Amino acid sequence: MPANVTVIDHPLVQHKLTLMRRAETSTAKFRTLLTEISMLLAYEVTRDLPLKYEAIQTPLATMDAPVLAAEKKLVLVSIMRAGQGILDGMLQLIPSARVGHIGLYRDPSTLIPVEYYFKVPHDIEDRDMLVVDPMVATGNSAIAAVDRLKETNPKSLKLVCLLAAPEGIQNFQTYHPDVPIYTAAIDEKLDEHGYIIPGLGDAGDRLFGTK
Ligand code: URA
Repeated sequence: MPANVTVIDHPLVQHKLTLMRRAETSTAKFRTLLTEISMLLAYEVTRDLPLKYEAIQTPLATMDAPVLAAEKKLVLVSIMRAGQGILDGMLQLIPSARVGHIGLYRDPSTLIPVEYYFKVPHDIEDRDMLVVDPMVATGNSAIAAVDRLKETNPKSLKLVCLLAAPEGIQNFQTYHPDVPIYTAAIDEKLDEHGYIIPGLGDAGDRLFGTK
């Protein structure tokens, strides 16, 4: 296992991922599964969020109870367009998180990412950032996104995906060895078009039904 990579091998994650991989899984089902799996990924990735204690009143007593110290300081950044699927799931679990978007598409001939949109919240310096994209294939989009996001100086940065190719992880870590990667699986390889094998196909097309 490469350093700084966490494979989230929880049985529910693995089961749902298998359903997503199946070619016969419909767009509606794929979307639901991506939402569900993203909640489970969020659960793991946010394990180290700090807590603070607030005095509350239960029906029976007062107590000092734990709450997230900085829920509104968390920024989820979606690499469009497929990142939207992970974003939707994570927001169900962390509804007060702030959201950024970065629009990148892969030039089909060069596989180089081209930026077409960039918007993130202000005051990034004291925010923890989770960058989400279902597929880390060549790693080029993730590298470009993190290059750009590092310019905003977040307090911390993690990359969360569903599937990664070994080539993509290696490429990403050449540029950003300091950024932890969380993924549900590391697949075998990339094909000549930059698709992950065995993978799940084009995540954006499967999520939005564009093919
Ligand atoms: N992007 C996808 O959506 N799927 C892949 O297999 C690779 C990149």
